[in-house]
Amino acid sequence: MAEENNTKSLSEAKSATVSTGYAFWTSGKPKQPNEPNWSYNMRELLTVKKFSDLQIDQEKSELKKGLTALDLIMIGIGGIIGSGIFVLTGQAAATRAGPAVVISFLISGIAASFAALSYSEMVSMIPIAGSAYTYSYATMGELVAWIIGWDLILEYAVASAAVAVGWSAYFTRLFEDAFNVEFSTSWTTAPFHFSTDTHKFTLVEGAYFNVLAFLIIIVLTAILTIGIKESSRVNTIIVALKVFVVLLFILVGAHYVDPGNYKPFVPPNKSGRWDDFGVSGIFSAASIVFFAYIGFDAVTTTAQESRNPPRDMPIGIIGSLLICSILYVAVCLVLTGLVPYTELDNAAPIAVAVGKLNMKWLIIIIDLGALAGLTSVILCMLMGQPRIFYAMANDGLLPPIAAKVHPRFKTPYVTTIITGLFVSILAALLPIDVLAELTSVGTLFAFFLVNIGVMILRITAPDIPRPFKVPGGPYFVPIVGALFSILLLITSTAASIERLFIWMAIGLLIYIFYGRTHSKLRRTRNNENITDLAEVNNSNEDSSELLKKSVNNSIA
Ligand code: ALA
Repeated sequence: MAEENNTKSLSEAKSATVSTGYAFWTSGKPKQPNEPNWSYNMRELLTVKKFSDLQIDQEKSELKKGLTALDLIMIGIGGIIGSGIFVLTGQAAATRAGPAVVISFLISGIAASFAALSYSEMVSMIPIAGSAYTYSYATMGELVAWIIGWDLILEYAVASAAVAVGWSAYFTRLFEDAFNVEFSTSWTTAPFHFSTDTHKFTLVEGAYFNVLAFLIIIVLTAILTIGIKESSRVNTIIVALKVFVVLLFILVGAHYVDPGNYKPFVPPNKSGRWDDFGVSGIFSAASIVFFAYIGFDAVTTTAQESRNPPRDMPIGIIGSLLICSILYVAVCLVLTGLVPYTELDNAAPIAVAVGKLNMKWLIIIIDLGALAGLTSVILCMLMGQPRIFYAMANDGLLPPIAAKVHPRFKTPYVTTIITGLFVSILAALLPIDVLAELTSVGTLFAFFLVNIGVMILRITAPDIPRPFKVPGGPYFVPIVGALFSILLLITSTAASIERLFIWMAIGLLIYIFYGRTHSKLRRTRNNENITDLAEVNNSNEDSSELLKKSVNNSIA
């Protein structure tokens, strides 16, 4: 029954593309004889992929449609709870907001919720497996798709590096807590530090290379290259463990909260610097802890295995975000109530807080749960990145080699290995705050575009069935969501915003000099010879189906 609904809604979506004004967007024509160049170029930048093409992928899928709404919620939580809560909360409280970090979490939670609502509307319109890149290619055109795809590298690749640094901290902590073994900080912390005062990177004396963060990425990359079939059950077990340790911390810790630690709730800003406590410090911390909410879009990658994607994907996205938001607020209250916020500037703040309780067993359980949870987030992110590269290369926007699938393992091994090397170096050299902030600004920018996209589509494609619509009409959620994203983006450090601009400028240059001229859709329309791409895609024809299967299985 659920499948029937899904198929029906897909067919409705398909016919809607033909019967509405939307056809204007999809009818890319070659350059007309008297057409000015600017008009042709504009049309080309808005080239969209047809829903029907995406639908074929969905219909061809032989994956078992077994995932329920509850499974999707678990997958969402699997991607969300990680370094944000286990690591960044402490730093944000100690250096920017004090106990008011709980307000920072509420602010960034609101920004994430609006994006989640917009995401849900978009996903329910196009209920196929994919990322914001796929959805925007089908709705807002190639240029926006490229921008989002390029930007998502910050969300996925850089986030994996940030979480790996958190993983390294908890691994070190576990050995210390369980066996009294101390690792040298020279090989477990980043050699570079970024000073927001001088706006410069400096070398940290005695720190050389974060070997643990490097190794976890290499090991997970190797596993992903060979291909794993992580079942939904394994994911559920890891998520249950992760949620269990968070709940354990909340429930046990709540008994030992000292209300004195909440005073002052909003420590005053004494230096006049934007990120140094006070109200501005709360916003500045919000842009850091926003990182904690990233990951709910993992749900969309499993659409092909969902029983009823148009209905269940919004439930998965919004449900997982809601549960995590409640847990986060509770963790912040307990954490800042257990110890003075000034003592929380540590890479494993939850373990530090529990350390005060003299319950060794609890610390070890929390260390283990955090490690399992962080590993699942890294896997989820490291798996998402090659998948996006793969989709972009298949569309001709990146060199065909990025779409290569291993003949035996049936995995996108080239992009998996390149991503792994890039991420492992980042994780080994940079501190978590630099990595997490860059991830956050990148994701905020993507969320801004998704919000705007939903609004544009209500105007350009009003008749396409939307099993889920953002509440409050076509403008309220997208506009407020876009404003919140921009607000948090501009309250990030100037250095992160600068890095985002540099990253996007590099991306645009690649698009202008490569993607624009190699785009498969565009070249097909212009009847150009696309044998090079056709060859790669033919050779990958069978394997690409298997790839989709393997990636989907792995994520599920
Ligand atoms: N939300 C994920 C984390 O906090 C990225 O690790």
